Amino acid sequence: MKKKLIIDLDTGVDDAQAIMVALAAPNVEVLGITCCFGNTPLENVLKNTLRVLKVCNRLDIPVYCGCSEPLLARKRHAGDYHGKDGLGDVPDPDAPGLELLQKKKAAPAMIKIVNQNPGEVRLVATAPLTNLAVAVQLDPSFPKKLNALYIMGGNTESRGNTTACGEFNFVADPEAAYIVLDRYTCPTYIAPWEFSCRNSLPWSFCDHWLSQNTEKAAFMKKIASLSMKKARSADYQKEITAGQGFNSCDTYAMAAAIDDALITESEEVAVTVELEGTNTRGMMVLDYIEQLKKKHKAFIMKNIDLERFKQMFMNSLK
Ligand code: BDR
Repeated sequence: MKKKLIIDLDTGVDDAQAIMVALAAPNVEVLGITCCFGNTPLENVLKNTLRVLKVCNRLDIPVYCGCSEPLLARKRHAGDYHGKDGLGDVPDPDAPGLELLQKKKAAPAMIKIVNQNPGEVRLVATAPLTNLAVAVQLDPSFPKKLNALYIMGGNTESRGNTTACGEFNFVADPEAAYIVLDRYTCPTYIAPWEFSCRNSLPWSFCDHWLSQNTEKAAFMKKIASLSMKKARSADYQKEITAGQGFNSCDTYAMAAAIDDALITESEEVAVTVELEGTNTRGMMVLDYIEQLKKKHKAFIMKNIDLERFKQMFMNSLK
């Protein structure tokens, strides 16, 4: 049976890679893509998503417009890394128009799709968690009807990429992340920042991956050029990867949802999000000593089968 996915994203470069990996997987059916502000303002996210679907010849997949701002936090984007437009600032003059979007909004659409496929849908969330927080407010029973939730976000060692201690998706909407970690009691798998850094793709592999002679590879080479340059630059030498490879953060959550054998090590622990700290707002809290008395625990990814992951990347540009 095919794995049924809803993808909630803020299409920047790694979201684009995650979509392409999902669309190349033979065992996957993408039921819908819901968009959220994040790496770039919502309008760009919508355009970028349609651009990626066009390259993959999959404009038949319904795309829904979601939240344009966080629940309470100050709005922020990640243009320095992904480009102002979110896809490396290499516009496509023939990009598909926003008239292709569905009329229904993201949160009600997620609820409807899941009601039509109870217990079957894997929700992959690679953006700030605002749309997911709205969905559970609209329908408190929504999480129970999911098969599983896969999140790229949070951190495990208080290493940030946006604030000193905070990872972008959680810092961009800490209240939403708090609500989701509290109320999504379905099986939950988290790909945190430090894990993604430690499982980066070696540069030699990236060269090989992008050298494929296809339209998809040419597109990826173009949109990833800016972020790859940044990732190799001196600014990034302080990152855990220290310039050793490319971290396609969102693709870990996606790949785990597609291939149950990808994650070779994880740990189960109750998690929440700090909402008040001056330096730690948005940081993920791991409750190893069970102080919070939370019944629900999440699986925190620690290691992957990198060869399987690389193969998914190769297939995504064929
Ligand atoms: C996350 O933030 C975004 O910039 C990436 O797309 C990823 O979802 C990494 O912290």
